[in-house]
Amino acid sequence: MGDADGLRYTKIPLNNGSDEIPALGFGTLIPDPIATKEAVRNSLQVGFRQYDCAERYRNEEHVGEAMRAVFQDGKIKRQDVFIGTKLWNNNHRPERVKSAFDASLKRLQLDYVDLYSIHTPFAFQPGDEQDPRDKNGNVIYDEATTLKDTWKALESLVDEGRCKAIGLSNVNLGQLKEVFDSARIKPAIVQVESHPYLPEWDLLNYCKSNGIVMQAFASLGHGIEPKLTDDPVITGIAKRVNKTPAQVLLAWALQRGTAPLTTATNLGYIQQNFDVSTLPNDAIEEITQKISTRVRLNPVVNTGIPGFIPRQR
Ligand SMILES: NC(=O)c1ccc[n+]([C@@H]2O[C@H](COP(=O)([O-])OP(=O)(O)OC[C@H]3O[C@@H](n4cnc5c(N)ncnc54)[C@H](OP(=O)(O)O)[C@@H]3O)[C@@H](O)[C@H]2O)c1
Repeated sequence: MGDADGLRYTKIPLNNGSDEIPALGFGTLIPDPIATKEAVRNSLQVGFRQYDCAERYRNEEHVGEAMRAVFQDGKIKRQDVFIGTKLWNNNHRPERVKSAFDASLKRLQLDYVDLYSIHTPFAFQPGDEQDPRDKNGNVIYDEATTLKDTWKALESLVDEGRCKAIGLSNVNLGQLKEVFDSARIKPAIVQVESHPYLPEWDLLNYCKSNGIVMQAFASLGHGIEPKLTDDPVITGIAKRVNKTPAQVLLAWALQRGTAPLTTATNLGYIQQNFDVSTLPNDAIEEITQKISTRVRLNPVVNTGIPGFIPRQR
């Protein structure tokens, strides 16, 4: 590895019949508005063409502003960028989906998105509060709304033509199968935490055999303990191929057929994360075979409550 090759430009066809997703994606979970705008602008200029947003990140307007400015510049066109955003848990009631979707589009300053996904399978109490809690501090769930009900409302958005594909996030294999089997419009993308400490092979194999793209978040381990970028297998390969541990992790994710998402505010990291090249097959095998640590860094999949849990070393 070393010289530029086509890995960074990998595209994966979608099961909606007409589109493909640039596999190497940029995530916008960045709390600071100024850092959000700079990261979006810099990453577009560096070459990223796939963006993951969410109403929950509370920064769609900053992402939208940065994108609008870049598109107005004229060098990068809207239609060359794949933009996805996600519905949050307090908007799962079918009658709330369209207005949540419209609000996201407005904040993003877009007239369509390439992907609209359900952020978690957990419906929270409907309303404008993203974190509805009872007096004991426990989340109030909405038992009356099923994932399939919400999915049908997303299918209607595709019918209206303002969202090209629809997806799920933070689902397990059972939940995915249930929606897939009953869906009129199949999930095109499933976004889950995945990296060498949480490879999710069963989910990935199911996705591949059903034409679903698995988008992998925290593909660098979110920079928290246990640090994937310090794993001796990863650092050993990085040294051998003269790349950084982050680039090795991204190459592994791309070469096994997922669409990895990274987030970086640091310009050097943004450049590094796009500058990936193909790893030799034995390095891919080594990561797959030799890393046995298994860690989930973000328990949102179990509760619908977002957030990475920092661990002590
Ligand atoms: N569906 C969900 O529930 C869910 C949950 C979490 C995330 N996501 C999505 O996935 C995206 C990515 O997740 P993530 O934030 O966990 O990604 P990540 O890329 O694994 O972790 C981001 C952290 O890694 C650092 N970093 C980035 N590039 C680096 C490099 N080359 N070398 C060393 N450190 C590097 C960043 O530092 P700096 O910021 O200092 O540059 C940041 O602290 C999010 O933005 C969001 O779009 C979805």
